[in-house]
Amino acid sequence: MLIRAFDPADTEPVVQLWHDCGLVRPWNDPRRDIHRKLSEQPELFLVGEVDATVVATAMVGFDGHRGWVYYLAVAPGHQGAGCGRALMDHAETLLLERGCPKVNLQVRAGNEPVMAFYRSLGYVEDQAVSMGKRLIPDLLP
Ligand SMILES: CC(C)(COP(=O)(O)OP(=O)(O)OC[C@H]1O[C@@H](n2cnc3c(N)ncnc32)[C@H](O)[C@@H]1OP(=O)(O)O)[C@@H](O)C(=O)NCCC(=O)NCCS
Repeated sequence: MLIRAFDPADTEPVVQLWHDCGLVRPWNDPRRDIHRKLSEQPELFLVGEVDATVVATAMVGFDGHRGWVYYLAVAPGHQGAGCGRALMDHAETLLLERGCPKVNLQVRAGNEPVMAFYRSLGYVEDQAVSMGKRLIPDLLP
C-alpha cells in the first residue's frame, strides 16, 4: 500500500470508503469534513492506495498539544492485511516529526473489535470522558 496525502480528486472514493466502513453518521457530512480538513494541515490527511485505488484513510492533526486521528478506515476487502497498522505507524511518524508527545483518538463506546485493534498497536484507554459541543450543525441533505 502506498501512503500519500489526500488529493481533492480522492473525494468521492474516500466518501464511498467511509460509507463502506460504517463511519458516516447523519450529523457529520463527510464532504464538509473533507473540505474543512483541506484548510488545516491538509498534508496530514492520509490515504492509502493499492493499484491506484484508494483503500484506506486516516485524518490526522496536531493541535500543538496532542495529535488526533479520525476517519481511520480500511476497505473491507483489504482489512486484516496490515493496512491499518501501516497507516497508524505513518501517522505517528508524521506527528513525532512535529514534536507531538501523545496521540488521542476516539472509538465509539462498545466497539470492541476496533478497541482490540488499537490495543494491539499499543494504545490504552485513558481515564477520561470525552465531551463535545457542536458549533456548526452539519446535517446531511
Ligand atoms: C479498524 C481497522 C482500521 C483495522 O484495519 P486493518 O487493516 O484491518 O488492521 P491490521 O490488519 O493493520 O491489523 C493490525 C493489528 O490489529 C489486530 N486486529 C485487527 N482487527 C482486530 C480485531 N477485530 N480484533 C483483534 N485484533 C485485531 C491485527 O491482528 C493486527 O495485529 P498484528 O499486527 O499483531 O497481527 C479496520 O478494521 C476498519 O477500517 N474498520 C472499520 C472502520 C472503523 O471502525 N475504523 C475505526 C474508527 S475509530
